[in-house]
Amino acid sequence: MPHGKTFYLETFGCQMNVHDSEKVVGTLTSLGYSRVDRPEEASLVLYNTCSVRDKAEQKVYQRLQQFKRGARGRRFAVLGCVAQQQGRRIFEKAPHVALVCGSASYSQLPVLVSRLESGDQRVTGLEPANGEAFETSFTRRDNPHRAYVTIIEGCDKSCAYCIVPFTRGKERSRASGSILEEVRSLAGSGYTEVQLLGQNVNSYRDPSGECADFAALLASVALISGLRRVRFATSHPRDFSRSIVDVIDAHPVLCDHVHLPVQSGSTAVLERMRRLYTRDDYLRRIEWLKGARRSIALTSDVIVGFPGETEKDFEQTLSLLEEVRFDSLFSFKYSPRPNTSALELDGRVPQEEAGRRLTLLQEKQRAIQIQRNSGLVGTLHEVMVEGFNRPTGQWIGRTSQNRVLNFLAPPGSGSLAGRYVEVRVTRAGPNSLAGESVEQARICSNGLGGS
Ligand code: 5AD
Ligand code: SF4
Repeated sequence: MPHGKTFYLETFGCQMNVHDSEKVVGTLTSLGYSRVDRPEEASLVLYNTCSVRDKAEQKVYQRLQQFKRGARGRRFAVLGCVAQQQGRRIFEKAPHVALVCGSASYSQLPVLVSRLESGDQRVTGLEPANGEAFETSFTRRDNPHRAYVTIIEGCDKSCAYCIVPFTRGKERSRASGSILEEVRSLAGSGYTEVQLLGQNVNSYRDPSGECADFAALLASVALISGLRRVRFATSHPRDFSRSIVDVIDAHPVLCDHVHLPVQSGSTAVLERMRRLYTRDDYLRRIEWLKGARRSIALTSDVIVGFPGETEKDFEQTLSLLEEVRFDSLFSFKYSPRPNTSALELDGRVPQEEAGRRLTLLQEKQRAIQIQRNSGLVGTLHEVMVEGFNRPTGQWIGRTSQNRVLNFLAPPGSGSLAGRYVEVRVTRAGPNSLAGESVEQARICSNGLGGS
């Protein structure tokens, strides 16, 4: 049986959701709840959900199913994108759920939770609060070194496959003064890395008019003292301007990495997807990025099996991979989503065929990554240390290019977590690199340690 005011929270989906969960944790903590590691120990079990693909949505129902019986004394909450999309229908599918709350309503959580506590059986927060807050005053960040900061919410594009404009609503930019104040305060309390978040950061427009656009905001963030790394996600190619590359060039604190989802290499498919750019438009942006002074890592998202995608279209995506040679790629089979215009398109691609295309695409990308990563053996990189992997005895680091670089460091160097260390790459795999800290290499070449 659960004890006292305890909660268990599991998060699915993107970094926006991860950051939303930090707001939820902070809010619940401020209400006197303490977090536990297992749902069985919690009086309140929350799932912060994703609905971008059907599989992600089904996961939450599977979780809830596990607790259908034996939920005595325990309350269940569905938050986030599935909550926003399904609303009260969740109560029909999972009658033991007591709270359904969308991401634009987290500032109402104190009221909603207190209604639960006073015995209300079904509570919803599905209408955005007036004067919605981008951050709650309680945000409890999980990572002591890297902080997520929301700069823009929602999305005004209407990509034919995408449920996000429906679940996260219209685009709202946050005033630059509020963003800069938060980043300054984070830097002041020891954070060295910030990641600016939004569904489409490139369409950022400062409502206060101080910073004209995203490039101007990036330039202002880059000047905040104490920061060593600034990242941002996600970019929409249509709104990705050349001035962003210029700002990256001008400010080394901006990381050498851009995630620019392409979705398809075929202009015909891009048109059906309503992506508002052609293959050539996309490749032009890649050219800008490849022309930058530093080598900027490029990553992307691809959907295969979109309605009407022919073998020829798919081959265009494969050839785009060859041409760009992404450093990493997220690839998905098209998943039909409610409230999206693609539902009306004909030319359904059979599941097996979509599966075949996905496998081919992933094999090609794997080969590219092996080649790219092998080329890095022998090079030096500064990593931010994220943790220690006890079984392998290696520290886990991340390069500015967002590559994972696991490395050995001399024993007795104390905890390196959060520190910046120079590491030489000694081995490369498709998804990560291995190496040793420059200090470790020095000890080894003096014959003092290591095997
Ligand atoms: N089916 C498959 N993948 C999707 N994505 C978004 N919507 C869908 C969908 N309906 C992918 C896109 C997006 C990433 C976050 O998820 O590639 O960039
Ligand atoms: Fe999933 Fe999109 Fe919601 Fe993020 S915003 S959790 S990717 S549906």
